[in-house]
Amino acid sequence: MVLLAIFLFSILSLSRAGTSTQIGVNYGQLGNNLPSPRQSIELLKAMKVQSVKLYDANPEILNLLSSTKFQVSIMVANHEISGIATNQSIADEWVRNNVLPYYPETSIRFLLVGNEILSYYTEEARQMWLDLVPAMRRIKKSLRAQSIRDIRVGTPLAMDVLQSSFPPSNAMFRSDIRESVMKPMLRFLDRTESFFFVDVYPYFPWSSNSYNISLDFALFRGNSSVIDPGTGLIYTNLLDQMLDSLIFAMSKLGYPNIRLVIAETGWPNSGDIAEPGANIFNAATYNRNLVQRMSAEPRIGTPARPGVAIPTFIFSLFDENQKPGLVTERHWGLLHPDGTPIYEIDLTGIRAMSDSAPLPAAENNVQYKGKAWCVAVKGANLTELAAALSSACEGNGTCEALAPGKECYQPVSITWHASYAFSSYWAKSKSKGATCYFNGLAKQTTRNPSRDSCNFPSVTL
Ligand SMILES: *[C@@H]1O[C@H](CO)[C@@H](O)[C@H](O)[C@H]1NC(C)=O
Ligand SMILES: *[C@@H]1O[C@H](CO)[C@@H](O)[C@H](O)[C@H]1NC(C)=O
Ligand SMILES: *[C@@H]1O[C@H](CO)[C@@H](O)[C@H](O)[C@H]1NC(C)=O
Ligand SMILES: *[C@@H]1O[C@H](CO)[C@@H](O)[C@H](O)[C@H]1NC(C)=O
Ligand SMILES: *[C@@H]1O[C@H](CO)[C@@H](O)[C@H](O)[C@H]1NC(C)=O
Repeated sequence: MVLLAIFLFSILSLSRAGTSTQIGVNYGQLGNNLPSPRQSIELLKAMKVQSVKLYDANPEILNLLSSTKFQVSIMVANHEISGIATNQSIADEWVRNNVLPYYPETSIRFLLVGNEILSYYTEEARQMWLDLVPAMRRIKKSLRAQSIRDIRVGTPLAMDVLQSSFPPSNAMFRSDIRESVMKPMLRFLDRTESFFFVDVYPYFPWSSNSYNISLDFALFRGNSSVIDPGTGLIYTNLLDQMLDSLIFAMSKLGYPNIRLVIAETGWPNSGDIAEPGANIFNAATYNRNLVQRMSAEPRIGTPARPGVAIPTFIFSLFDENQKPGLVTERHWGLLHPDGTPIYEIDLTGIRAMSDSAPLPAAENNVQYKGKAWCVAVKGANLTELAAALSSACEGNGTCEALAPGKECYQPVSITWHASYAFSSYWAKSKSKGATCYFNGLAKQTTRNPSRDSCNFPSVTL
């Protein structure tokens, strides 16, 4: 009986391996309340994930992973790229310090050089653009020198590497990187049989254009379809459209066959008023449908590449409370920081989720239109709030109304003054990209906090 069980188990595991799911998870650690690496890896095991992607080469995590079967993706930090690009010894040292101590016990499969570096536009970053492919080549050379051939070298890019993406057959890489970066990169990926790693979020185009793109199309439950007039290909979901636009852009540079890996995708489970559609219902729907689609047998692929597998990493394992920016940034997790699931999901794709507990109804699927203010959150640390207040007031004219005797001076409290300052700063600087965040001390509100003669500046969403 025991023998039979073992026999059956090995057949099952063999067939599972043959039809292995394509789903991995990004393990980000930008939280001060997350489980330990050991506990996190146990959680990943319990979720039956087969691949895990890290944002560094954390020694503790890589050691822990050596006793597991996870396929692992590690990352060179952005600031290390230029050094590696100019000096082979630095590349060799990186591989010696970050790969050799763990490999092959830890199944490192992808070595990613930097993260979305073509999405930064400072002068320093532009130098890094030019260093990116040379750094990838040097890392590959270091691996070869160690006779390591099964680690693919790549770099995750965001969709903003495209200057146009619709319809997919019209897509092209941005002109500022097309010849100087993308062409040599594609040549490298092609010659080394690596992948084009892309961070692809249907959430972003949908949420910034929710009038023209249907939510169903973004969540893979559309019954409508969009035809690309250039090719006649029919699209039933936004992810396919985005992926094919990359395939067409690569084809135009002469590389039609480089395989894709989705280095990040997902949907936020919570957000602020200006972030429509960020809720548990949509996050669960997107990720469940994604998993079903990506692990379906036979493979579905995309309209431009039917039947071709696309390994996929969901972003992210946990909600990470120290990610800056919009509220959604801190709510991409599958799990709460205490390790409990935010919603049920079967990452093997075997279980259709029809028998799961009902999801909370989505209440914010429509873009909020109107005025908004930015106020201090309840219970914020007063020392930190005072510091944020003074930095928000640095710009000319932001806090004049808070001066003694002026209309917003009373009541004299840090919370009141900070709320005014945050609203005023946001109103002045939102067009330059400022967000209502202030290190988590601020939140957006649609309730006008003004009183008596004190008028809070507002933004119009
Ligand atoms: C390359 O880096 C190594 C180790 O950091 C250093 O010793 C060497 O001087 C560097 N070579 C050049 C040409 O900068
Ligand atoms: C939505 O589509 C209409 C009609 O095609 C177009 O005029 C409008 O500019 C689009 N709106 C946005 C926000 O893209
Ligand atoms: C598509 O779905 C919508 C909403 O679920 C429904 O109203 C519509 O009739 C459907 N259209 C087709 C062609 O099935
Ligand atoms: C408030 O923040 C300061 C500075 O970060 C910290 O030293 C202090 O312990 C915090 N106070 C409370 C009550 O958390
Ligand atoms: C503030 O205004 C003063 C005088 O008009 C000007 O010299 C200064 O550069 C301004 N500072 C900022 C941060 O805009």
